Amino acid sequence: MAGWKANKEQTEMKEIRLGIVGAGFMGQLHAQSASGLETAQLAAIVDMNAQLGSDVAGRYGATHYRDIDAALAADAADAYIVVLPDTLHRDVTVRLLEAGKPVLVEKPMAHALDDAKAMARAEKSGGRLMVGQILRFDPRYNQAAQAVRNGEIGEPLHGSSGRFTNSELGLRMNGGSSVCFYLGVHDVDALQWISGQNVTRVFSRQVSKQMPKLGVQSEDAYFTTCEMTSGMVGQLYFGWTLPKGIPTGLWARTEVIGTEGVIDLDVRDSGLRMLASGGWSLPDGVHWPEVNGRIMGDLYEEQRHFVQAVREDLTFLVPTPDALRNVAVNDAILRSVKSGQPEDVENWDI
Ligand SMILES: NC(=O)c1ccc[n+]([C@@H]2O[C@H](COP(=O)([O-])OP(=O)(O)OC[C@H]3O[C@@H](n4cnc5c(N)ncnc54)[C@H](O)[C@@H]3O)[C@@H](O)[C@H]2O)c1
Repeated sequence: MAGWKANKEQTEMKEIRLGIVGAGFMGQLHAQSASGLETAQLAAIVDMNAQLGSDVAGRYGATHYRDIDAALAADAADAYIVVLPDTLHRDVTVRLLEAGKPVLVEKPMAHALDDAKAMARAEKSGGRLMVGQILRFDPRYNQAAQAVRNGEIGEPLHGSSGRFTNSELGLRMNGGSSVCFYLGVHDVDALQWISGQNVTRVFSRQVSKQMPKLGVQSEDAYFTTCEMTSGMVGQLYFGWTLPKGIPTGLWARTEVIGTEGVIDLDVRDSGLRMLASGGWSLPDGVHWPEVNGRIMGDLYEEQRHFVQAVREDLTFLVPTPDALRNVAVNDAILRSVKSGQPEDVENWDI
């Protein structure tokens, strides 16, 4: 916190200057969303792709830097949002935390449990870390978690959570990330957070037919049976297997069955259905819809919370141990696929 507090005094807390590291698909959404925040100014875009980085920075009157060292040397921002590919989260996040900066890092926290632990340890050196588990800011998932917390469905007995998207995402990732991490980490978080129980042991299977056929060294989908605390059992499933032309980019469901009630989340559409020349579509109305030229919804709310918590020194709504727990579960899923056996979820304490 030391670095941020020094800056806070210098800028008299009017606005915080945000830097976004990574200006690809999600970084551009973050930039557009951040440009609409009332208590923050989008000050810096960091991307090694000079053309892309300066284009995105130019759209919002921000300054482009090619790497994080240049941005830190120029004191370009008070807090950062890291939107790099999944496998690159660790080093940049650790560097920023060690420089005393608050960091919102996109999910998954990291691609490997050791990397996630290194990031959590770096929090102790000055900066503060929040992992962007975006469903925590989604009114539907959030209300589900709250209802279970309030005892409205009694004791959770079993649950499932999963999502599929179309193969275009797998092709775009081109082996650079796994279905488990780019996509499935949302459900790994939702199942544990909503039910209030930890996944302790997994038995997983994957299918890898379509991606290799399309020339990409990647799996298509994972299915997992989970043992959970308090005797609960669960299922997780995720894949980039839907055919091109499916009307929704997100085919996601979560269920938790309790002794006194049921949670049933079906977010395959958000109420808007359009038939146009390209056929039927079900546009996103909740995660990051553009409304009157501004990004609204879960992403905006996640950023708004991050900025408010930094400015007012509040606790982040995504506890770092929960994000570590998600990486530990994915790690066990990958081990189970490899060994063909059930695998324990490793301890994620640091
Ligand atoms: N919250 C969500 O629902 C959600 C949705 C999509 C993606 N994501 C996450 O966002 C992150 C980014 O995903 P994406 O699809 O935008 O990736 P992307 O490949 O589209 O963009 C990554 C960007 O990082 C830049 N980059 C790569 N290495 C760099 C480095 N060392 N220094 C500076 N810049 C570098 C690249 O030039 C590129 O512009 C991932 O962690 C992903 O899981 C989250």
